[in-house]
Amino acid sequence: MEKFVISGGKPLKGRVHISGAKNAAVAILPAVLLSDEPCIIENLPQISDVATLLKALSSLGADVKMINKSTVEIDPRHASYFVVTKEMAQGMRASSYFLGALLGRHKRARVAPPGGCDFGVRPIDQHIKGFEALGAYVAIENGMVDARASSLQGASVYLDVVSVGATMNIMLAAVKASGLTVIENAAREPHIVDLANFLNSMGADIMGAGTGVIKIRGVEHLHGTQYSIIPDQIEAGTYMVAAAATGGDVTVENVTPKHLESIIAKLIETGAEIEEYDEAVRVKMNGRPRRCNIKTMPHPGFPTDMQPQIATLLAIAEGTSIVTEGVWDGRFRYVEQLTLMGADIQVDGKSAVITGVDKLKPAPVRAVDLRAGAAMIIAGLMAEGITEVEEISHIDRGYELITEKFSSLGADIKRIDDYGNLAAKLA
Ligand code: EPZ
Repeated sequence: MEKFVISGGKPLKGRVHISGAKNAAVAILPAVLLSDEPCIIENLPQISDVATLLKALSSLGADVKMINKSTVEIDPRHASYFVVTKEMAQGMRASSYFLGALLGRHKRARVAPPGGCDFGVRPIDQHIKGFEALGAYVAIENGMVDARASSLQGASVYLDVVSVGATMNIMLAAVKASGLTVIENAAREPHIVDLANFLNSMGADIMGAGTGVIKIRGVEHLHGTQYSIIPDQIEAGTYMVAAAATGGDVTVENVTPKHLESIIAKLIETGAEIEEYDEAVRVKMNGRPRRCNIKTMPHPGFPTDMQPQIATLLAIAEGTSIVTEGVWDGRFRYVEQLTLMGADIQVDGKSAVITGVDKLKPAPVRAVDLRAGAAMIIAGLMAEGITEVEEISHIDRGYELITEKFSSLGADIKRIDDYGNLAAKLA
């Protein structure tokens, strides 16, 4: 098992290039199955979740060819299988997108239940509600989610909770259904808009993505396309918070500043100076951060996927901050790790009360999930001395070349293998 060894205490300085968005890529790759022709996807992040999905697409019969490190050509014409096993899904949450995509393509899907980060119960009842509204029969059989339909008919679906996954999955199933589908109380994240733009570039007819009401008029065929994935809002936010938390000066490049508004607003409250450019944001922090309260919410609220990172910055803020998790039931498992580093955080249900301490201290810690892992790296960069972060496969699921990117900002961070040797993360 590899781990990161970080010698912290230095401000991050420089420029970092942000990769394509994981949470857009993991929906767009299964969506290729809906096309009648080959598709070229650009700005694909080199992360293990993407590698898992590409392998799963191959197993389904698609022809997958890497053109370069971040561009893939996928020819789905011979993708005749409709079963995604547990082994193919490898515990990914995004495997659920095969349900919508395969249902849309074959009217039949049999997919291992989605896994992903452990934030408590992660139901898919809203996905199923959407598929059933379109005329599918959905059952859990032998531990697999089985969905089938003789035909898919457009329908109105009101989501009882704002769900990214259900919104995406219903779009995938509806795009080739007959007639009009309306998703009400839809999620509005940038990756929802990216999936809609991708599908529209193949000839789909989707309107309203990015608002709470999405209208999908079914089409018979989708053609091939060449499409570039949007920059990763959460990867960008992670480097922005790391810059502020280490008292640094970092420009994150290849970003869409509009997607970063809530993160920028909160960083300004903590005392960071922010400069916005067309496709870049510069973050500078002088002195100790100021306290602030945060509540995570669906977009355009503050993203839950930035909650562990910003809480880590607030661990050294002057004063007491309250961070309230408004999306997931259990997203504070990382707090125990941060307290090992000297943070003073009390969790009460969905809120964490963070009393700022002067400094974090180095310690051996674990990445309990993907963003929690990113937060441990930030904590390690803040603490003077050597911090080791274990269970880093969670981090590799969603951050491209993370040691290389942090090193380019002056961080001392190494990936070490089981034998204590330096391990390269080859792209
Ligand atoms: C996506 O998960 C992201 N994952 C998550 O990011 C992110 O935290 C989440 O959206 C919220 O923004 C991917 O895109 C692969 P949801 P998803 O459906 O789609 C409840 C990361 O770190 N709910 O929007 O699974 C659910 O329990 C990952 O990159 C139902 O009740 O999230 C939660 O409380 C972690 N029934 C809320 O809705 C359902 O059928 C939001 O979940 C579906 C969801």
